[in-house]
Amino acid sequence: MTGHHTNYHNSTTCLSQAESLSLLALSAACVAVLANTFQGDGYPLIASLALGGLAFSATFSMIRWLGPTFMRAGLKGVDMSKHHKKELPECMGAIAAMVYLLAVIVFIPFPFYKDIVAATSGGGNRDVVMHVEHVQEGRFLHRFPHGKLASYLSAVMALQSISLLGIGDDLFDIRWRHKFFIPAFASIPLLVVYFVDFGVTSVVIPTPLQPYLGELFNLGALYYVYMASVAIFSPNSINILAGINGIEVTQSIVIALLLAFNDCLYLLTPYPHPATDSHLFSLYFLVPFLGVSFALLWHNWYPARVFVGDTYCYFAGMVFVVVSILGHFSKTLILLLIPQIFNFVYSVPQLFGLVPCPRHRLPRFNARTGLLEPSVTPWTPERQPKPPVAWALKTLDKVKLLRVTLDEEGRFVETSNFTILNLWLVWRGPLREDRLAMEITGMQVVVGLFGLFVRHRLALILFKQDNLGV
Ligand code: UD1
Ligand code: MG
Repeated sequence: MTGHHTNYHNSTTCLSQAESLSLLALSAACVAVLANTFQGDGYPLIASLALGGLAFSATFSMIRWLGPTFMRAGLKGVDMSKHHKKELPECMGAIAAMVYLLAVIVFIPFPFYKDIVAATSGGGNRDVVMHVEHVQEGRFLHRFPHGKLASYLSAVMALQSISLLGIGDDLFDIRWRHKFFIPAFASIPLLVVYFVDFGVTSVVIPTPLQPYLGELFNLGALYYVYMASVAIFSPNSINILAGINGIEVTQSIVIALLLAFNDCLYLLTPYPHPATDSHLFSLYFLVPFLGVSFALLWHNWYPARVFVGDTYCYFAGMVFVVVSILGHFSKTLILLLIPQIFNFVYSVPQLFGLVPCPRHRLPRFNARTGLLEPSVTPWTPERQPKPPVAWALKTLDKVKLLRVTLDEEGRFVETSNFTILNLWLVWRGPLREDRLAMEITGMQVVVGLFGLFVRHRLALILFKQDNLGV
């Protein structure tokens, strides 16, 4: 143990004085704001922001303190793209997920505070003369929005299940074909609440197709299959767009920020919009998520001091599923996942075994230049791709969607691995790790903003109206 321990100096396990002071100040301010929200109208969104700040401080310091403990328990990984192959604490996303879960649980009274008061005391109607039977009960529980509480609890439950799966995966390295479907089970509470609360299973048909298919098309049970597929896809797609410092967290932060931005558009409509409530609900889950994610990014950004683990990828993907299913905007989520969808579709040849898939496909670190290059899958003269695959690989190479190296006799020597990170390096040439992370994140912001633009503007052409009502 001492061997690894000498890597760990006080500076990596304790907070510096400046850090302690800033975190304490932030926490104190958040506690003050939180205490104040119980007076007056008590805007739950303000409470949520304050809890997000507290979650940031808690995650930030606990990652520092618990790193060595995680390493002692065997949760560690080698940073492969560095000169010194140092071991770092792995699975730090578990801390982020646990702090997050506590934050959203502590938050429960806030959005329901007024309802609780109204339902248990007659809510400001005390001067109204009450009937004897009501006075005896003293409660108007039928007024309490049980349905909303059920949605909220189902979300917490789905997030708890997925965190358990993630931690199990980080501990035991479960094979991907065994863990692939588990998010669908975690999403069952959400689907049940969706069934009871909304039950909307029809999709609006684009205007040009309406003469043939009618205005609405009812997908029925297929709609639930579709939502379960989104639940499977989102966490897994974030986990396979990984392997360079910071990228798991930055891609999640970008999606969360764009979803939150979209939510805010609905809050700012001049009159109460029917979808306002579900977008407020979505913000309650995204704000603390951003809090824990920024704290994690601080430690995971290049040069990383910790790894986030599969726990974080699954958990982040599930947060997006939760808000978009319960907010009834899963198609918007799909627009924001375009880079992940591309990465997944592009990965299919390796995921389904047409091309061998090594355990790790992350870019290759060139120790001489200190830059990342596309990693490759080697071929031997004995093991060559089958003719149709060989043709497809050469075509992809021609259109610059792959890098293929052939020997003099035209046999395959190596092909770059099928991930968007390697493809980006094929296009842009060798890059430093943080540069690659920034460029991919920037690309994602541009694509995501374009997705939202399409959602709200072009939707007007395809569908007679955008549900933003502007
Ligand atoms: C997924 C990818 C795999 C990629 C890996 C990297 C697929 C099918 N799987 O696998 O190709 O190599 O993520 O996370 O596409 N690591 C670094 N630097 C980083 C992040 C991770 O060196 O910035 C290494 C560390 O050794 C770390 C390990 O990757 O311990 C984590 O890999 P893990 O999350 O277990 O891989 P998978 O999610 O199974
Ligand atoms: Mg992973």
